[in-house]
Amino acid sequence: MTMTKIGIVNISDRASAGVYEDIPGKAAVALLREYLKTPWEPEYAVIPDEQPLIEKTLVDFAENRGCCLIVTTGGTGPAPRDVTPEATEAVCEKMLPGFGELMRTTSLRYVPTAILSRQTAGTRGRCLILNLPGKPKAIRECMDAVFPAIPYCIDLIGGDYLETNESAIKVFRPGQSPAIEGKK
Ligand code: MTE
Repeated sequence: MTMTKIGIVNISDRASAGVYEDIPGKAAVALLREYLKTPWEPEYAVIPDEQPLIEKTLVDFAENRGCCLIVTTGGTGPAPRDVTPEATEAVCEKMLPGFGELMRTTSLRYVPTAILSRQTAGTRGRCLILNLPGKPKAIRECMDAVFPAIPYCIDLIGGDYLETNESAIKVFRPGQSPAIEGKK
């Protein structure tokens, strides 16, 4: 069996030019290492806010490198160079707006500027693509909220079966959850 692959794409003009350290990308990798019990390998990129390049990277990671999940960091706001959601929509076959809705709702508990993030998610083939904001703190806040639904989403699209470290994050798979069994 091939190793599970997860793509991490830090989208930032300044990080890709070496002006900033690639902190968000590293924070996303560290968080996924904490969450996942399933062994996995990162496919990693730090690229500028250029829509064609973002699209090319997402397609390459989903199709050629076999990622079942790609998380992007940054480029979700309203600034002229923020084009991550546009690139995501352009390469996805199905959008999953619930991810963005929940991340914004959750983030609003922390900052009123959460409404400025246009982050979204969608699927391309067997890959789920998820946009996260660029701030490391925001990455954890958003992932803690949506990650419980991610393994089941990847099951539904035929991607790898992801298991988590229960002490870090609990996943929800309908039919397998004690909460659901208890209600039957
Ligand atoms: N979400 C959380 N949880 N925490 C934050 O600090 N910052 C917001 C928002 N979402 C923030 C957040 C801000 S200030 C902006 S501009 C948008 O994310 C977009 O950030 P991005 O351009 O780095 O993607």
